[in-house]
Amino acid sequence: MGRILRRGETMADKIGKILYTKKDIRDMAERLGKQITKDYEGKELVVIGMLKGAFLWMAELIQHIDLDLKVDFVAASSYGSGTTSSGVVKIKQDISVNIYKKDILLVEDIVDTGTTLAYMQQYLQERSPASVKICTMLDKPSRRTEKGAHPDYIGETVDDLFIIGYGLDYDERYRNLPYISYLDESDVDKLK
Ligand code: IMP
Ligand code: MG
Repeated sequence: MGRILRRGETMADKIGKILYTKKDIRDMAERLGKQITKDYEGKELVVIGMLKGAFLWMAELIQHIDLDLKVDFVAASSYGSGTTSSGVVKIKQDISVNIYKKDILLVEDIVDTGTTLAYMQQYLQERSPASVKICTMLDKPSRRTEKGAHPDYIGETVDDLFIIGYGLDYDERYRNLPYISYLDESDVDKLK
């Protein structure tokens, strides 16, 4: 599985395994969006997407939230270029909206060890918002090391797989797959 597609070959031909289709993801967003709409009625909601992984999920989700909300993004990273977390979280791009006394919904692509989530919760709390809740497209609870990191809204729970597609990357690749897939050990070997 080299980097360059051969003539006539699509990304789907290369990856093939679909865990969730675009329609499945839309359904997740619709279900959670309805719930969030109910839960935040009459509140001042700021939805903060975690770059880069959550950009497509964020775009889908907010279209299903029927509230007068504000949108912002923050870029944090705990991953190097491999498939395991470095454990050290860095803010690479800060939020630009004032969140003091606002209700915050932090939108994640996937919660794995929970390191990023725990760090971000603390980071946002220091700015004294009214509340902070987490909405993640995928949850991978089998690898959780941060016991306090619980997403409040979860699209789907996945097994211990390395997920790619719909925003999620392997070394910055595959974010543009319009579905959720995963890489096997054998795929990773072939990619080296
Ligand atoms: P955590 O800090 O270990 O919970 O990891 C959080 C971040 O690591 C996520 O926001 C993702 O960007 C990335 N990540 C975790 N698991 C995966 C995966 O299976 N595929 C791609 N990225 C992942
Ligand atoms: Mg990532």
